[in-house]
Amino acid sequence: MKKDLLRLADLSSQEIIEVLDLADKLKKEQKAGIEHHLLKGKTLGMIFAKASTRTRVSFEVGIYQLGGIALYLNANDIQIGRGEPIRDTARVLSRYLDGIMIRTYKQRDVDDLAHFSSVPVINGLTDYCHPCQVLADLQTIREYKHTLKGLKLAFIGDGNNMANSLIVGCVRTGMKMSIACPAGFAPDAELVRWGKESGLLEITEDPKKAVVGADVVYTDVWASMGQESETAMRKEVFKNYYIDEKLLKFAKKDVMVQHCLPAHRDEEITGEVFEKHSKEIFDEAENRLHAQKAIMVMLMDSNRS
Ligand code: CP
Ligand code: NVA
Repeated sequence: MKKDLLRLADLSSQEIIEVLDLADKLKKEQKAGIEHHLLKGKTLGMIFAKASTRTRVSFEVGIYQLGGIALYLNANDIQIGRGEPIRDTARVLSRYLDGIMIRTYKQRDVDDLAHFSSVPVINGLTDYCHPCQVLADLQTIREYKHTLKGLKLAFIGDGNNMANSLIVGCVRTGMKMSIACPAGFAPDAELVRWGKESGLLEITEDPKKAVVGADVVYTDVWASMGQESETAMRKEVFKNYYIDEKLLKFAKKDVMVQHCLPAHRDEEITGEVFEKHSKEIFDEAENRLHAQKAIMVMLMDSNRS
């Protein structure tokens, strides 16, 4: 049976570690000049209804390095943009492609696409979640800290798609997570309940409280794609939810900072903190490539299992 990555919870704890181990291996070997054409001749369709730099380029380069090719499909240029149903698009694309990556608004559309596709579907971001980003984040955190279990990650800002996927990533790998967000901007209620039940998640309105003893401090934009009309309101609501040097003093001495990017300097993160931690932030961006190569191999390589 085909396997999809529609949300991070589709992967068990063990499968997440398998992705990370394979991502590390592919990264090491790529840097050593060893090529792996594990997806020779395979095609990945990439549907984008929202902008992207990292997701688009890392998937396209990733499948090329694995011996396959990617097709960039802007949602406005294909018939989806003119109202062709997702279920028909899914059945047509399944006749041509070996996998589909989709970035769009509604999680429901990604779930429907997967339901009607006979090839694996990968979620490249929805309003609800961003699983590929969190796999790259976990890979990066493990590279720096050599473990995940027992670490504490503090997330400062909007309880958005990143916060939702980070809850799953932390709980599945045994990391504690503390989210500081204003009232009314908490992550998905069901995920919060699930996270709290695990004993690993706490939600607070106080960024300092969230950051105490943190190994990793994470933030994301105040207004996500699709929320542009709320930008001014959000600037007011989130004005105390940012990472600066003062806030980082509450974290562990060797704290690392993560940001999925793109970043808005001097909104959710000061320019000073961003530049001081730029190596780990750009390592995180690089790891999108390696983590997604691992995901594509695990989902699209028919010679595996
Ligand atoms: N972090 C991330 O998904 O970046 P893009 O929007 O550039 O793809
Ligand atoms: N929360 C952001 C993440 C971008 C990678 C957005 O959805 O725009």
